[in-house]
Amino acid sequence: MSVPGLAIITGGSTGIGAALARQLHHRGWKIGLIARRTEPLQALADELGDGVAWRAVDVCDAEGLQVACGELQDELGPCELLLANAGVGAPTSIQRFDPAAVTGVMRVNFEGVVNAVAAVLPGMLERGRGQLAATSSYAGWRGMPTTAAYSASKAAVSSFMESLRVALRGRGVAVTTLHPGYVRTDLTAGNRFWMPFVMDLEPFAARTVRGLLARKSEVNVPWPMTIVVGTLRRLPNWLYDWAMGMMSPKPRARR
Ligand SMILES: NC(=O)c1ccc[n+]([C@@H]2O[C@H](COP(=O)([O-])OP(=O)(O)OC[C@H]3O[C@@H](n4cnc5c(N)ncnc54)[C@H](OP(=O)(O)O)[C@@H]3O)[C@@H](O)[C@H]2O)c1
Repeated sequence: MSVPGLAIITGGSTGIGAALARQLHHRGWKIGLIARRTEPLQALADELGDGVAWRAVDVCDAEGLQVACGELQDELGPCELLLANAGVGAPTSIQRFDPAAVTGVMRVNFEGVVNAVAAVLPGMLERGRGQLAATSSYAGWRGMPTTAAYSASKAAVSSFMESLRVALRGRGVAVTTLHPGYVRTDLTAGNRFWMPFVMDLEPFAARTVRGLLARKSEVNVPWPMTIVVGTLRRLPNWLYDWAMGMMSPKPRARR
């Protein structure tokens, strides 16, 4: 079980990051929040009160993130838990395929995690203590139709974290990957499709924080989604393609 110290949370201003910040602060953790917009950061810091600081920085800016994490640690102590959670989601259009849109999602969702890890890992290794966590998604378990960039970015996060977990064995640094199902946040507010097992933020965060603080290797919430996507993961390609095709919009016939 983790002992409370400083938790640095990227994408900590809204949604899942903010809900986990509330849960951790309630359990005695100091919180360092990172996101780009200052207003939500300040509003959450005001709400939480003591032991909270924030920096407005883009996670794609490796140097800026390094400086921000250093300043947060100078103010609140060494980072005991990193939650690399900042992320964006956008459908990948096949008709208007734009490689820049794909790499843009990869930069925030994957490189943002890499940059955050780079900012705190040397200190954790020096102290022989700490925990690295990142928010991936069940969407990374297989290539989901219409969200190629998002699925790819989350698959990259899961593999990256798994490799770190193995590499860091015996070094005192735990590694945890979060795989959330659908959670009601700004990210999913625009979804016009049915979201199976969708959860409200607070019950999602309450369940997730328990696994996080138990330093589990993976925290997959909600469990029914683990069964559904876990089954999809094991299907042969022909059956997976058929099943996903049934659920996806059909291409319009050309006249
Ligand atoms: N909601 C779901 O159903 C769901 C499911 C699976 C996984 N996830 C993952 O959960 C994480 C949080 O998403 P959410 O649902 O809580 O959405 P959200 O409310 O939109 O939160 C996204 C957070 O990331 C920050 N952010 C975005 N781009 C950033 C950048 N370039 N640099 C720094 N911060 C950035 C946002 O603040 P600023 O815009 O101010 O920077 C915000 O704090 C994401 O990684 C998402 O992929 C969500």
